[in-house]
Amino acid sequence: MRSMIKTNAAVKPTEWLGRIPIHVGIIMDGNGRWALNRGLPRIEGHRRGVEALRITVCAAIEFGLRYLTVYSFSAENWSRPVEEVSDLMGLLKRFIRNDLAELQRAGVKIKVIGDRANLNPDILAILQEAEAATCGNARLTLVVAFNYGSRQEIAAAARVMAAKAAAGLIDAAEIDADLLTQHLDTAGIPDPDLIIRTSGEQRLSNFLMWQAAYSEFVFLPIHWPDFDRQALADALAQFSARERRFGGVTLSPEGAKVGG
Ligand code: FPP
Repeated sequence: MRSMIKTNAAVKPTEWLGRIPIHVGIIMDGNGRWALNRGLPRIEGHRRGVEALRITVCAAIEFGLRYLTVYSFSAENWSRPVEEVSDLMGLLKRFIRNDLAELQRAGVKIKVIGDRANLNPDILAILQEAEAATCGNARLTLVVAFNYGSRQEIAAAARVMAAKAAAGLIDAAEIDADLLTQHLDTAGIPDPDLIIRTSGEQRLSNFLMWQAAYSEFVFLPIHWPDFDRQALADALAQFSARERRFGGVTLSPEGAKVGG
């Protein structure tokens, strides 16, 4: 991967290394606007978006993240013009084909989340191949959210639990947040500590809604193709300065409550 990255030596991780999140989720938004601003076709924005993704994976490894989840295609993205959907599918296929060997060498495990029913067989095959080829890796897990929607994921988990209850495999009274978590596509993956969204939009757009209950959010004004190592470093520095209470309180040394 290293050969592909545009390094920016200005930021040394040791200068800001504080608390490094285990899991970062990214909503890679703004490819279309990046292209529009330059008078280029939208596909060019997506192409540059793939470049930014490569850079980000390298930086995530360098900074010691364990999980990186990227929103590559939402369940709602099918409503885009047919040519753009086809371009995005082509880019995903090419990314996996061209980069699989390097991802493998870099110790990246690929995990795909999202609805696999009704996917084009060649896309399905390529996603499965990427997962199978990298399943033994442990340095960074790159979770690719593809044909993914949080509401659909939660509804699917509810359907499976309802079927198990009807078959007498579980008692409906046992269904709680932990059991539902175990039935999500992300079962076994820790919740994201930090979610980054580019392009200035400030919403989740059906991304990891259940898992983001206690995530910190960093919204960046730049469009995704401009995201790089420095931008990730800045977002991690913001995360490091945040105090996370997970619904509890912070106690001062004397035991007084200092937060809500
Ligand atoms: C949002 O920009 C981006 C997407 C819908 C797709 C993101 C895809 C990539 C970065 C490339 C393919 C991914 C992989 C894993 C190879 P937008 O089109 O909504 O931008 P806009 O809001 O400015 O129109």
